[in-house]
Amino acid sequence: MSNNRVTRRQFLTYTITGVGGFMAAGMLMPMLRFAIDPVLQTKAEGDFVVTGQKVSELSEEPVKVDFSYEQVDAWYKSEVTDAAWVYKNGDEIVALSPVCKHLGCTVNWAGDSEHPEQFYCACHGGRYEKTGVNVPHTPPTGPLDQYEVSEKDGYLMLGKKFANSFA
Ligand code: FES
Repeated sequence: MSNNRVTRRQFLTYTITGVGGFMAAGMLMPMLRFAIDPVLQTKAEGDFVVTGQKVSELSEEPVKVDFSYEQVDAWYKSEVTDAAWVYKNGDEIVALSPVCKHLGCTVNWAGDSEHPEQFYCACHGGRYEKTGVNVPHTPPTGPLDQYEVSEKDGYLMLGKKFANSFA
């Protein structure tokens, strides 16, 4: 007979310690996972978003292209919808943000019948040239931002915004 017999007290101590440790791990792991979850997420910054706009259908006339993407803000994921005014400038594709640089309203191409070749912001009469450069003596103090553009399988992709390169 072995001399290493487990006493009743030792058996209870081991059992309680084991079960307690298992339960503590079961509670702590989800909390730990929740705390570091944003760190584990892959960043989408700089990624291009594929739009439903065929590049072959673009012309020199600006068209409004709507697109959406998933935005991750810490633990909160949301679907964001956005838009761009897109046209061809020779072989170059130009994509402009529709957000007015005065107070943030949305601009429209040819929105003012007196200036059909410009972007127009109806909120306070802001106007922009086709390049997105603001017309002097109208409320906007800066040009419309541009989007990075690319192409995938014939469809337009839009990337990050950057300061207007025509200004
Ligand atoms: S918000 Fe566009 S002109 Fe004021």
